[in-house]
Amino acid sequence: MKLLLVPLLLAGLSATSVAAHDSVRSRKSLGFGPVHPHAVFHSDPSGIPQNFGSFHAKNPFQLAQSFADGIIPPHLDDASTFVLRKDSYTDRNTGVTHVYFRQFLNGLEVADGDLNVNVKDGIILSYGNSAYQGDAPDGNPVRTSTHPHSDYCSQLANEFDARNTHYKRQLGGQTIIDGLDFYRDTILRPLEHMFESSCTFTDLPDRFLSKDHKLEDPRHALLQFMIAATPEEHMVQDILSKYDDYINEMSSYMDTHFVGGETHLPVELISNVPETVNPVKARLAYIQVPDGDSTHLDLVWKFEVEMKDNWYEAAVSAHAPHKIISVVDWASDAYAPIPRKERPGLATYNVFKWGINDPSEGDRSIEAEYNDKLASPLGWHSLPVANDPYSGDKSFAYSSSIRNTTVTWGNNVFAHENWDGRNSYIGNYRPDGGESLEFDYVYDPKLIPGEDALEEARKYINTTITQLFYTTNMVHDLYYRYGFDEASGNFQQHNFGRGGEENDGVIANAQDGSGFNNANFMTPPDGQNGRCRMYIWKTATPYRDGDLEAGIVIHELTHGMSTRLTGGPANSGCLGWGESGGMGEGWGDFLATTIRSTSNYSDYSMGAWAANRENGIRNYVYSTNITVNPSTYKTLDKPGYWGVHAIGEVWAEVLWVVSNKLIEKHGFSDTLFPPLAEEDGTIPAGDFYRPREHEADGSPKPLIPKHGNTLIFQLVVNGMKLQPCRPSFLEARDAIIQADEILTGGENRCTLWEGFSVRGLGPDARVDGRTPWGGGIRTDDFELPEACQ
Ligand SMILES: *[C@@H]1O[C@H](CO)[C@@H](O)[C@H](O)[C@H]1NC(C)=O
Ligand SMILES: *[C@@H]1O[C@H](CO)[C@@H](O)[C@H](O)[C@H]1NC(C)=O
Ligand SMILES: *[C@@H]1O[C@H](CO)[C@@H](O)[C@H](O)[C@H]1NC(C)=O
Ligand SMILES: *[C@@H]1O[C@H](CO)[C@@H](O)[C@H](O)[C@H]1NC(C)=O
Repeated sequence: MKLLLVPLLLAGLSATSVAAHDSVRSRKSLGFGPVHPHAVFHSDPSGIPQNFGSFHAKNPFQLAQSFADGIIPPHLDDASTFVLRKDSYTDRNTGVTHVYFRQFLNGLEVADGDLNVNVKDGIILSYGNSAYQGDAPDGNPVRTSTHPHSDYCSQLANEFDARNTHYKRQLGGQTIIDGLDFYRDTILRPLEHMFESSCTFTDLPDRFLSKDHKLEDPRHALLQFMIAATPEEHMVQDILSKYDDYINEMSSYMDTHFVGGETHLPVELISNVPETVNPVKARLAYIQVPDGDSTHLDLVWKFEVEMKDNWYEAAVSAHAPHKIISVVDWASDAYAPIPRKERPGLATYNVFKWGINDPSEGDRSIEAEYNDKLASPLGWHSLPVANDPYSGDKSFAYSSSIRNTTVTWGNNVFAHENWDGRNSYIGNYRPDGGESLEFDYVYDPKLIPGEDALEEARKYINTTITQLFYTTNMVHDLYYRYGFDEASGNFQQHNFGRGGEENDGVIANAQDGSGFNNANFMTPPDGQNGRCRMYIWKTATPYRDGDLEAGIVIHELTHGMSTRLTGGPANSGCLGWGESGGMGEGWGDFLATTIRSTSNYSDYSMGAWAANRENGIRNYVYSTNITVNPSTYKTLDKPGYWGVHAIGEVWAEVLWVVSNKLIEKHGFSDTLFPPLAEEDGTIPAGDFYRPREHEADGSPKPLIPKHGNTLIFQLVVNGMKLQPCRPSFLEARDAIIQADEILTGGENRCTLWEGFSVRGLGPDARVDGRTPWGGGIRTDDFELPEACQ
């Protein structure tokens, strides 16, 4: 019955007319997948088996491997293995080793079977586990029985039904009208597309449904995904009408260059896929589909699909009918509901200096390159020839030779204009600071209305690229010092032999022509460039340039950090949807707000200047006052809070409250930047860190930031490293509390709980009746743990 109802609802939806909201461009973005009912995060070491003997105690990786082997349930003993991922690493400050495993069954990867184990001093501190626990599949993956298609479709239908009902209620005229277009485009439309492409087949050629496709042929599953993914309605029609032509055009070959994880399974590269800008990577894997309290396995093609405005990681059933089980867009939008030479010295830039959020808050001044030798040993305008995408044929270059540039091009960031909104960037325009590296340009936008406003905004491209380059490098250097370094997956062309994958500096597009009134960031796994696209905002005259609003740039770059730190540098699929996707947005808002805050407390909005709205682009300003910002955990149950930006707003607000509790206790540091290292590499404590303590054996203990705002910054970063893949609010909270346990011995335990409890995330906060698609009823807990009362 439900299934029959849905198309009617869909028809009703398309007939609904919603006043077009010219001020916001909504990029189509699919982000969808099941919540695992059996996933756990244990952060109490006393509840975790620790008996692995002294043999392993010295090597955290071996210890973690023994632990991993030990938690495989007996009935899976013969079939299941945990393979240690090579992006595992030891944190230089805390000494915690973050070990990541991927589950394999009969030699085939379980794409969402993630295990992360945190180890220090021979103790398993915590672990998160979403490995498949059901019966072993029979030896031949090809014959694996799959989750009934009809169940999948009725679940999808129910979810659409519920969301559409809420949407219509909102249309009836209430509060979040501004967010409605966005809600329709990003929450409803993807579901609609998924349902249509996976559950209704009336328009598709018969062959599409054929069970005869060779399982080894990923093209049908891929083409069906493209039908759901393309933002162009006419492309959908075109593919449907010329289905066989499109299939035949696609060609694929095995590539041994990209090995699929640690078992060296080959990856297939598929070319000539419509709507993509690079060959699609494909490999077979299992994925888990929720079924009550446990999960079924489904055999899927895992695709990495790079499109103009999206970079998807999708899991699509290998068997026909090909349903999309999960999809993560590595691109995240800023927001949503609403709207070469000798170098004489350091470069200088005429910019809104660090701490000035946007042009309404202050004037520009001449600022020098930051010169942190630890974070950026070569400075901001140099990189090894071997890691320079400009160099052409690398075989002639000595890897040790350094290229110094006089443009906005260096080891951390390539910043440039991208008016054409294209994917290529190397040849794009960049300002040239000359031999003295002085990037000093005018900024004096005139009030020119109409068509010419865009041309006027483009006159300041030099200024804008300079600002984007400066802010992005500052963020690189700041985050580096809190532990987002090479080993943990940061963005650099060259890694100085300090671990991690190279050749992944940030490609930063100023005034990107692919949109207006927004911004976004694409985070592929470690070793591939991140891509930041900033837009012009047509929200005022003169137009406002997102590059000049530090908060928006910081929000975007923070996606890069949270995605690389959660679940390990090589897994970019851990913050794709639901609560975890929401927190991906929330961390960006929280860190942007923390960066602009001063010792005089104030409430802050997000994106207020660019959007030309006093209260910014979120529902509420960030405030410790619960009357001003009433968000609590339970708020997530409200209609309008399914989108990641609304969820993120709640998380950022919780962190803001927690942060201010720590500031009350430890005071406020006027700078978030730790002291520069001495010549010999040691870091002075200054007024920034507490005096360094040592263990009984003389080895140094971790450096601990002294003040509340720097401490929360550190705990949030460390928490990202501890938490499991696809964390919930409760798990991310527990990871922050454990980060404090590790760093300070837990001296802020009760202060942290005070902050979390004020916003409903006390120890007994819970969600009941969690649906596979993220629904459920949340209960706030405003109490403190007994030990803190
Ligand atoms: C680049 O600058 C560094 C100093 O930062 C200098 O040692 C090196 O010789 C320069 N390279 C070239 C090719 O000029
Ligand atoms: C940007 O600066 C360059 C000098 O580096 C100058 O030649 C050019 O005209 C400037 N562009 C604009 C749009 O002002
Ligand atoms: C905080 O407020 C005081 C009093 O208004 C002012 O003197 C001081 O400069 C302010 N500090 C900052 C960092 O804004
Ligand atoms: C919180 O905000 C409300 C509404 O603006 C105000 O009336 C109240 O005094 C504020 N409370 C505190 C503690 O500042």
